[in-house]
Amino acid sequence: MGNLDGKIALVTGGNRGIGRGIVEALHREGATVTLTARAPKAAAPAPKEVRDFDQVRRVFGDVGRESGGLDILVNNAGVGLFAPVADTSPEDWRTVIETNLNGPFYCSHEAIPLMRKRGGGYIFNISSLAGKNPFVNGAAYNASKFGLNGFSEALMMEVRYDGIRVSYLMPGSVNTEFGRGSAAKQGWALQPEDVGEVVLDLLRSPSRALYSRVAMRPSQPPKK
Ligand SMILES: NC(=O)c1ccc[n+]([C@@H]2O[C@H](COP(=O)([O-])OP(=O)(O)OC[C@H]3O[C@@H](n4cnc5c(N)ncnc54)[C@H](OP(=O)(O)O)[C@@H]3O)[C@@H](O)[C@H]2O)c1
Repeated sequence: MGNLDGKIALVTGGNRGIGRGIVEALHREGATVTLTARAPKAAAPAPKEVRDFDQVRRVFGDVGRESGGLDILVNNAGVGLFAPVADTSPEDWRTVIETNLNGPFYCSHEAIPLMRKRGGGYIFNISSLAGKNPFVNGAAYNASKFGLNGFSEALMMEVRYDGIRVSYLMPGSVNTEFGRGSAAKQGWALQPEDVGEVVLDLLRSPSRALYSRVAMRPSQPPKK
């Protein structure tokens, strides 16, 4: 018997990387998990774009009809495009902001009524240390994650009395295919399952406790 038997979860970008680590952790504890991704894969037969509000509404509508509500939402889908502002096209800017910031808004917008039906829930927003530490060539990504942190804190204060907890996680380097590839960070980097474990820890925490902002780093990155 898992701790999450009977719980309904949705993880955006759950087909690979960090999202997959979280899906596997939730599944192991007994949750029923729906995932979204752009690419049609075996586990996700049709593209489910978090940038497209109509697609998001359809996905949450299906979950509501099939499961009667939602207990856990993980806003994980994200992209990283890193370039100087003068070389960033408006299309690239939109891709980053629409995926990393509009997506969590669209999904939360649809999830909250489904969580209220269940008497509460938990929303996780996968941000980044880039949500508090700006870096050169990171303007679009930094803006999206700083924005996501602000969104998370405001949402947390808004829905807490509905029994809905909101946490945002700020991982450092995680070993995935994100951004410019993983070759440089193998070995010492966090693994997707490490983020999955943090999600489980937060779900297990007493309901009176709310860990709003969680930073996590590789314990031994290369010395500078
Ligand atoms: N890796 C790191 O070092 C790191 C550190 C801190 C924070 N993060 C954050 O963690 C999250 C996951 O990153 P990751 O490292 O696991 O990256 P990843 O391996 O590149 O996976 C990204 C996931 O997001 C999905 N996705 C992208 N755009 C989407 C869209 N428009 N609609 C639906 N799904 C979309 C992808 O789906 P497809 O397979 O269909 O493309 C994929 O499942 C991101 O928010 C990222 O900012 C990553």
